[in-house]
Amino acid sequence: RDRYTGLINRYRDHLPVNDDTPIISLGEGNTPLIRLKNIPRLLGKDVDIYVKYEGLNPTGSFKDRGMTMAVTKAVEEGSNAIICASTGNTSAAAAAYAARAGITAFVIIPEGKIAMGKLAQAMMYGAVIMQIRGNFDQGMQLVKDVAETSPVTVVNSVNPYRLQGQKTAAFEIIEELGRAPDYHCLPVGNAGNISAHWMGYSEYHKSGVVSAAPTMVGYQANGAAPFLRGAPVRDPETVATAIRIGNPQSWDKAWTVRKESGGWFDELADDEILAAQKMLAEKEGVFCEPASAASIGGAMRDIRAGKIAEGSTVVCTLTGNGLKDPDTAIDQCREDLQKGSRMVTIEAELDAVRDAI
Ligand code: F0G
Repeated sequence: RDRYTGLINRYRDHLPVNDDTPIISLGEGNTPLIRLKNIPRLLGKDVDIYVKYEGLNPTGSFKDRGMTMAVTKAVEEGSNAIICASTGNTSAAAAAYAARAGITAFVIIPEGKIAMGKLAQAMMYGAVIMQIRGNFDQGMQLVKDVAETSPVTVVNSVNPYRLQGQKTAAFEIIEELGRAPDYHCLPVGNAGNISAHWMGYSEYHKSGVVSAAPTMVGYQANGAAPFLRGAPVRDPETVATAIRIGNPQSWDKAWTVRKESGGWFDELADDEILAAQKMLAEKEGVFCEPASAASIGGAMRDIRAGKIAEGSTVVCTLTGNGLKDPDTAIDQCREDLQKGSRMVTIEAELDAVRDAI
């Protein structure tokens, strides 16, 4: 059996590469599809819920799927610098794949609004970091403007190769389930990922690999929910900093996904996102970052309400690893810490450990 060498090699027949393309890979993709055991029981509903744990990609998020393609094509086209605006994960992935390719990554991030793990990654992988006194949407505009005159390749999801790479998650899910799920739930920021998934499902549907495509459901944080407002949001705000986006780049694509798949958008309060993140960790042993938990939090609500019917197979994408945002995770446990129910400080003595047990 061939060694797994990343998603481009795995799916090269479905991707815009040829035998001469210099593939830049860190072994991304092939992430676990985990069937939940305890949460369906707690919901009291007969549903099959799977989480696609994209946090186990090489830099800890789904962005690696898009970045292997975007950087591969940038290098093939002779580029020696890439640039992106980012709420954190794209910058980490861009920095890593640029390092691998031996080219420069410039990243623009909103000052003070990206999770610490992501900042650490961009620094360690050697990106040139521009913190702006502004938000992601402003950074995105700057990237588009500067790329018009400077020799840098934009690797945000406006780069079509990004979505090509990201569509492979849908292929993996289909191969594992032997069919498409009935519902696929994702957190939505720029809406690149929901559009990429739909592209993947549609390709396998059209070529007859599966007889149906899923209903696509996109969840946003209520402080950053342009798809619910029907218009861009000027000052997006949410604890889920990854999806703190007010002016989605794949606006039209996402509305097409909703229409073609018969799906919907909905929004969650920050508290609901955080509760879902903690529940998934405590009840299933799966630790994702806050933005990712919008998918499972939203799905649980729609399953409870019967909007997602019993008997359904549901896949939720967990877009990023929980370790990306240690500050929010520790904050989440503050109450437990204060109650003394989860952590005690004791003498380094057997009696003290016995007492604590
Ligand atoms: N979840 C996580 C963890 C993300 O980092 C992002 C986007 C999304 C969901 C939303 O995906 O934009 O395709 O709808 N993060 C980008 C970034 C914006 O810069 O890392 P989307």
